[in-house]
Amino acid sequence: MNEDILIKTIARLTTAPKGILAIDESLSTCDKRFEKLGVPTTIEKRQEYRELLVTAPQIEKYISGYILFDETIKQATRSGEPFLSVLKSKGIEIGIKVDTGPVDFPEHPGEKITAGLEGLSERLKEYKALGATFAKWRSVYTIGENTPSEECMKASAEIFAKYALICQENEVVPIVEPEILMDGEHSLEKCYEATARNLEIIFSELNAQKIFLPGIILKTNMILPGKDSKVIVDALEIAKATVKCLKEKVPKEIGGITFLSGGQGDEEATVRLNAMHKLSPLPWALTFSYGRAIQNPALKAWAKNPSDVALAQALLLTAAKNNSLASVGRYEK
Ligand code: 13P
Repeated sequence: MNEDILIKTIARLTTAPKGILAIDESLSTCDKRFEKLGVPTTIEKRQEYRELLVTAPQIEKYISGYILFDETIKQATRSGEPFLSVLKSKGIEIGIKVDTGPVDFPEHPGEKITAGLEGLSERLKEYKALGATFAKWRSVYTIGENTPSEECMKASAEIFAKYALICQENEVVPIVEPEILMDGEHSLEKCYEATARNLEIIFSELNAQKIFLPGIILKTNMILPGKDSKVIVDALEIAKATVKCLKEKVPKEIGGITFLSGGQGDEEATVRLNAMHKLSPLPWALTFSYGRAIQNPALKAWAKNPSDVALAQALLLTAAKNNSLASVGRYEK
């Protein structure tokens, strides 16, 4: 393992005031979002949409890395330029989602673990040859009366460690993404408790397997009340709870921390990240790795009028800029 390569990649990814844009929705997730907006769910439409995301002028001022999906990493613009060469010419790092999605966790109804370890090393080598410098693996956990269970968290942590090791051996930075879902009526305290325990289990396993922590990025949820709880919590309270949880449970030597947006309102995701940076100094680089919170306005505009690519790209740029400002605590509504 070349530790220096991993550290340098993370430094480029977390350079202020930049963050990561996730455009790695699986085919089914992408199609669901298209269907909702009346967009045909075809490979051509997915290419067209992702072309506008990849070619957005000036996006490199705010975005350090794009996370792609297998279909997208091999696509090209309609004029024939591979997406990868467009991104590389802007100095943007190439990331790739390498898990193959959630599967049922045996004997634990409602709980999931994540598949995709089989053949991972070979796939990573192929992606690395194409230019990928970082990867992403996501596990999801639902808060319920008895979930997430210790068994599920432990099983997922073991999988994360195996994934992280394979990535690091291939000199690709692993993003470890445990997502406690917002679904449900639970309180902010419950989310805190589940996130804290899960991070404890994950870092204990990563340490046990001797994963090089300065060479990973944690991508996590913020500490939030469930989206059906109807509780309104202000940004400062969320920021304080999230930073407290991360300070308590994430080792200082980690390469960096990024957030997923997870279905928060676009503005909320920005304001909350901004509020965290008002609590500096923070012991680690802390920025965004949003999908929906950056893409939403652009996707809606493009769905309405696919010929107005310039408008969709302008909306994407504004969302990226707002989150870039939030990543250094300088966003104002
Ligand atoms: P959202 O910001 O839409 O949650 O997506 C981030 C991500 O990468 C999910 O795995």
